[in-house]
Amino acid sequence: MKEPKRYLVTSALPYANGPVHIGHLAGVYVPADIYCRYLRLKGKDVIFIGGSDEHGVPITLKAKKECITPQEIVDRYHEIIKKSFKDFGISFDIYSRTSSKIHHETAAEFFMTLYDKGEFVEKTSLQFYDEHEQQFLADRYIMGTCPKCGAENAYGDQCEKCGSSLSPEELVNPRSVISGNSPIKKETKHWYLPLDKYEDELRKWILEEHKEWKPNVYGQCKSWLDSGLFPRAVTRDLNWGVKVPLEEAKNKVLYVWFDAPIGYISATKELTPNWEKYWKDKDTKMVCFIGKDNIVFHCIIFPSMLKHEGTYILPDNIPANEFLNLENDKISTSRNWAVWLHEYLEEFPNKQDVLRYVLASNAPETKDNDFTWKDFQTKNNSELVAIYGNFVNRALSLTQKYYDGIIPQPTEITEYEQLIKQEIITIKQNIEKNIENYKFREALKEAMNICRLGNKYLADTEPWKLQKTDVARVQTILYYSLQLCVIAATLTEPFLPFTSKKLFQLLNIKKINWDETEKFHVIKSGHKINMPELLFERIENEQIDFQIEKLQKVKEQNEKSNKKVEPQKNSINYEDFEIQDIRVGTILEAEKVIKADKLLKLLVDVGIDKRTIVSGIAKYYKPEEIIGKQVCVLVNLAPRTLKGIESKGMILMTEDSDGSLKFISPENICSNGSSVK
Ligand code: 2FM
Ligand code: ZN
Repeated sequence: MKEPKRYLVTSALPYANGPVHIGHLAGVYVPADIYCRYLRLKGKDVIFIGGSDEHGVPITLKAKKECITPQEIVDRYHEIIKKSFKDFGISFDIYSRTSSKIHHETAAEFFMTLYDKGEFVEKTSLQFYDEHEQQFLADRYIMGTCPKCGAENAYGDQCEKCGSSLSPEELVNPRSVISGNSPIKKETKHWYLPLDKYEDELRKWILEEHKEWKPNVYGQCKSWLDSGLFPRAVTRDLNWGVKVPLEEAKNKVLYVWFDAPIGYISATKELTPNWEKYWKDKDTKMVCFIGKDNIVFHCIIFPSMLKHEGTYILPDNIPANEFLNLENDKISTSRNWAVWLHEYLEEFPNKQDVLRYVLASNAPETKDNDFTWKDFQTKNNSELVAIYGNFVNRALSLTQKYYDGIIPQPTEITEYEQLIKQEIITIKQNIEKNIENYKFREALKEAMNICRLGNKYLADTEPWKLQKTDVARVQTILYYSLQLCVIAATLTEPFLPFTSKKLFQLLNIKKINWDETEKFHVIKSGHKINMPELLFERIENEQIDFQIEKLQKVKEQNEKSNKKVEPQKNSINYEDFEIQDIRVGTILEAEKVIKADKLLKLLVDVGIDKRTIVSGIAKYYKPEEIIGKQVCVLVNLAPRTLKGIESKGMILMTEDSDGSLKFISPENICSNGSSVK
């Protein structure tokens, strides 16, 4: 497209049913933020739209589980997510939400326009219905046995055990998640977007006119189009979402994937009365940043909605990323296998840019990529500290040391300085080309070349040696090094905004535009810079080991909860059972056993006598909280000596799947010595 007059940049709206993690940042928000910050530095008219996606079945299920309303769920996570984005410098012009009034109105109106134009196909079909709850059941509300692997808790749309995609009809013994009853089939009417009718125009628009889209995006679209499109229902029988604005559709809402992308429009309306300029003028360039699981919705369904509404422009590009893994395993919210942004900031305060750097330099642009803590440490220590931090620190410290922080006058310019200027122009162009083509990893590599160049300049010219012999030359070298600092602060700003801000403060100047860097002589002789401070700190092994151990614990926890219930042991006779003498007893005293973290020494009244029992429960109970508790005791176990204490009997405990121990206690108080049979 010819030079656009303005840019509309959207980033996928995350579901407000959990906090955000590094996968979100790497896949969508860091790339989108780099793009927008770059455009702003270039002086372009750009708006960057974000917000929370607050509808959909998983949110209602989570609310049910916690016995609160869906609104309470989304209120909680919207705030957490919004804060994480702000903390990491994601520079949205607005971060809105789809439960807002303006969104409900906008989405309903959009539906009505398509409805009035006769775009939808109406169809009645048989759907699962819970008679007890008197409601239709969304796929996620139906569970049953997986027809593929036999797992008993497969959902109506997917079996999480074997990963198969399912339809609720395929489940063996389907049951309602809400009541547990078997659902019946009942007729219901829905409105469908006839994607099959739009197939030809979509083929032309994507496959012919947008060959420049990223290969992963283009490829996925081609495969959808080649396998044939079908009408898609845009309404659902649910009571959480945007109400379908039709008299005959009481108790129905818009499908979450119909209303969510309209969220970009409502957020723009909320941001500016000029919203139509961004959405309806063909001189606007719309770019949608998303993850790969969103491709079909943004490349096929949303553009069809926009086109057939009739007054909107279509996206120019939809740069979807692949997924980021964590330590060689898929990031998973339910398995807690993630680095949560709010936790990262507590453990690495003020190190937002380190994470931004690692995620951008490792962004899953062409294939799934892996985040490892070791790599995080290496990138910090060997790149940010050793290249960027080191160069800036040397340039600032030498200026401080030799000239009290006052920028010296350059004297004779040599070929080396000419070469540096040329190099910088090339680097700048490479950064631009890469950002404009959504190749942010490459762009960042180029940006770091400014500091590599600076380090080489200082290492080659060695001003610390020349200071004794050629002061005039040192003046030039430092003057040029400081110009490089200004250029680095500007051209790395889209990637490392916190660092740039700090560097501009140290240089004691205001930030400049992208293209002003070409002037080269931005910071002037005679200007006084501030006392140098380190831009980055080394990250030590202990911090990394802590993170690795933390993940290891999560893994162990997951393995334990996945552990199969142990198979039944061999049969025994009643006599075999009866030889165990199990009694109810009351704990009278409890204390820790010295030099044994797991053991408590108990005095237990078992009716027959009061006896000492040593029990391995110290990890689960504090001595003071169990005094007076009634428990079951195997009293005829032969005495054993543990840590020098004779233990007469054993307290019976249950061991949960996570390995934790709990007492077995009678339901009501009974006399000590009562038998357990
Ligand atoms: O995949 C997701 O997290 C969706 N909530 C993305 C929605 S993007 C847009 F359509 F709003
Ligand atoms: Zn299965």
